[in-house]
Amino acid sequence: MKDKVKIAVNGYGVIGKRVADAVRLQGDMELSGICDVVSDWRVKVAAHKRYPVFAFDSASQEQMAKAGIQVQGTLTDLLKSCELVVDCTPKKIAAQNIEKYQEARLKFIVQGGEKHETTGHSFSAENNYDTALGRESTRVVSCNTTSIIRTLTALKKAGLLKRARGTLLRRATDPWESHLNGIINTLVPEPEIPSHQGPDAQSVDPELDVITAAVKVPETLSHLHYWNVQLTREASKEEVLQAFSNSSRIAMISYGDGLSANNTVKELMLSLNRPYGDMYEVALWQDMLKVVGSELFFAYLVDNQAIVIPETIDAIRALTRLEENAQASIQKTNAALGIRQGAFI
Ligand SMILES: NC(=O)c1ccc[n+]([C@@H]2O[C@H](COP(=O)([O-])OP(=O)(O)OC[C@H]3O[C@@H](n4cnc5c(N)ncnc54)[C@H](O)[C@@H]3O)[C@@H](O)[C@H]2O)c1
Repeated sequence: MKDKVKIAVNGYGVIGKRVADAVRLQGDMELSGICDVVSDWRVKVAAHKRYPVFAFDSASQEQMAKAGIQVQGTLTDLLKSCELVVDCTPKKIAAQNIEKYQEARLKFIVQGGEKHETTGHSFSAENNYDTALGRESTRVVSCNTTSIIRTLTALKKAGLLKRARGTLLRRATDPWESHLNGIINTLVPEPEIPSHQGPDAQSVDPELDVITAAVKVPETLSHLHYWNVQLTREASKEEVLQAFSNSSRIAMISYGDGLSANNTVKELMLSLNRPYGDMYEVALWQDMLKVVGSELFFAYLVDNQAIVIPETIDAIRALTRLEENAQASIQKTNAALGIRQGAFI
């Protein structure tokens, strides 16, 4: 049996800390360490969890040491002890790190803030795991794009998808930063249609006929999407729900269960003892979903901080060929993270 694959996480922020935790839960992966530039509570938590901590450079190493953090070395040292790097640094920083990964002959994954061109491959497990097998690198698409690919792939696999038009209500900022960047008492529409998520979905699946518009809303819990889909033919509501339920990462929610808003769904995740209250699944309202002839209308929630975590784990298995089969990887990841298929409870 292949040894555990050694993984480094560069950038220990909202996404990086979750990726590191998720790597630690996989039986076939080992966390070589995490790397960051800051030396405040965020990295102190990593040290508290006994993750090997590395600093981006010698200046940040000095700062971390001054802050009392036990530092193992710099990014250069970390790159010597791993086989694959998951770069979770902020938008555009990751692109600058690629040369370092290539020089060290390491496989790497970047996140959705980077452009498709940085790796030439954009990943979403249920759609294109196979095309990532053995590649040197990939980009796990953003939270909104991941949800679009998951839902439209489910309809496509059922032979129901003709074209899709979606309106995205985007959370204004991440919860821990709402004292810095939040908007209040306003709604901020994006000036251009399509918003970037539709074209981004086509970077994974160029066959999708999809157009999106987006508006920023004054809350931080999750995104909410409204979709209008032209089906290939008339279909029943049951048939559409079955198509969505066949996805390994879509779970149904109901008004009948009291899940009538995103705060109640967040509370459900906390009640299920999910780490950080994370929801890895797309949460789709089954009782609201409506089919009129061959037109489908539905809405769902996306936990922006969590949805890309299982995708990143699957991307690691695809690049390293830890698992050749998409469904087998997805099932391992889902089991390790407690992901629900069909319904949450
Ligand atoms: N936050 C989300 O909801 C979300 C969802 C999906 C995808 N993404 C994408 O994930 C990536 C990371 O986003 P995030 O929200 O986790 O950002 P973040 O700001 O929360 O975390 C980034 C971390 O990287 C560190 N960092 C900055 N420069 C660095 C460097 N040179 N070397 C090492 N570490 C450095 C920062 O100190 C910070 O801890 C981006 O591409 C983003 O678009 C974010």
